[in-house]
Amino acid sequence: MTDRAVPKALLATLMGRRQAVPPVWLMRQAGRYLPEYRALRARKGGFLALATDPEAAAEVTLQPIRRFGFDGAILFSDILMVPWALGQDLSFGVGEGPRLAPPLADHALAALRPRPERLEPVYRTVRHVAAALDPATTFLGFAGSPWTVATYMVAGQGSKDHGETRRYAYRDPAGFSDIVDAISDMTVDYLSRQIEAGVEAVQLFDSWAGSLSPEQFERWVIAPNARIVAALKARHPATPVIGFPKGAGAKLPAYARETGVDAVGLDETVDPVWANGTLPVGMPVQGNLDPLALEAGGAALDRGIDRVLAAFPERPLVFNLGHGIGQHTPVEHVERLLARIRG
Ligand code: CP3
Repeated sequence: MTDRAVPKALLATLMGRRQAVPPVWLMRQAGRYLPEYRALRARKGGFLALATDPEAAAEVTLQPIRRFGFDGAILFSDILMVPWALGQDLSFGVGEGPRLAPPLADHALAALRPRPERLEPVYRTVRHVAAALDPATTFLGFAGSPWTVATYMVAGQGSKDHGETRRYAYRDPAGFSDIVDAISDMTVDYLSRQIEAGVEAVQLFDSWAGSLSPEQFERWVIAPNARIVAALKARHPATPVIGFPKGAGAKLPAYARETGVDAVGLDETVDPVWANGTLPVGMPVQGNLDPLALEAGGAALDRGIDRVLAAFPERPLVFNLGHGIGQHTPVEHVERLLARIRG
């Protein structure tokens, strides 16, 4: 079959071709709000066991596609697989969030022994999903951006204002640069292997980009993302890259211009009308319904959807949330969202 016979609305949009009905996927669409996810996770005994079992991880990737028919399937994995492959221990305790050990706040990066083979199950997951996915659905790979991943590697866990990592970056910029470079190199490899195994576009999640001052944002968000995008483009020029610098706010246009990403994800604090007027003409955007409007449902949900749709009258739009779907979101609200967008 030719490309023309197999229209993929999401991939086409990411390549700059606006669709009459915007394609939809939701960040964190495979996860705890789905009863079928919770059941499989309980059987496998935890998140990491699930994410490193290619058959099970492929099943979780496909669950939201089967239930809702989203235009995109996102690989079931986690941004913390890269620190794990860089040699930190990784665990996801129930109710306490992820832990990485030893934290780089007080351990040298050079003391870690890289274990890239830890990523092999992810590539097998990609091959399983690629073989099973229907031809209209676009398959998305992903990784965390260096800054966001570094906040976990330095603190050893999630942190509120990322103060420990920001302090590290000021105190020892050369040492911090080594951490960011190690993450970047592994990420280029990781995303290239995902693409070679069958993903059709990739997203860089920079969930904590919003905690940096403008100067630090240039150095630790824009510069390493630009390096990653350039390296990916050298190897896989046709594969679109979505950048999601959550919380970037007024720094978003610089991010869009300077990183080389093909499309930008907008978080829910960004005014979509402002974004449409400010971002480069023709650049595809993704976003940006408030995940809490989806959780609330009803008129608040309808209003939020309409506002996003109306803000981008000509620009290629991928409908998404401004951040990941919350675990308490009723599945009927997701059905309502799809019905309203697709008409
Ligand atoms: O989007 C998808 O459905 C694909 C899978 C995916 C997961 N994590 C699975 C997961 C993706 C794209 C991620 C990205 C991720 N992971 C980010 C960036 C996006 C964001 O939400 O900001 C971050 C910061 C992480 C790190 C992480 N992983 C945290 C902080 C946690 C615990 C808290 C939480 O949000 O659940 C995880 C665990 C995790 N990753 C779960 C899932 C489904 C929950 C594990 C479980 O309890 O079953």
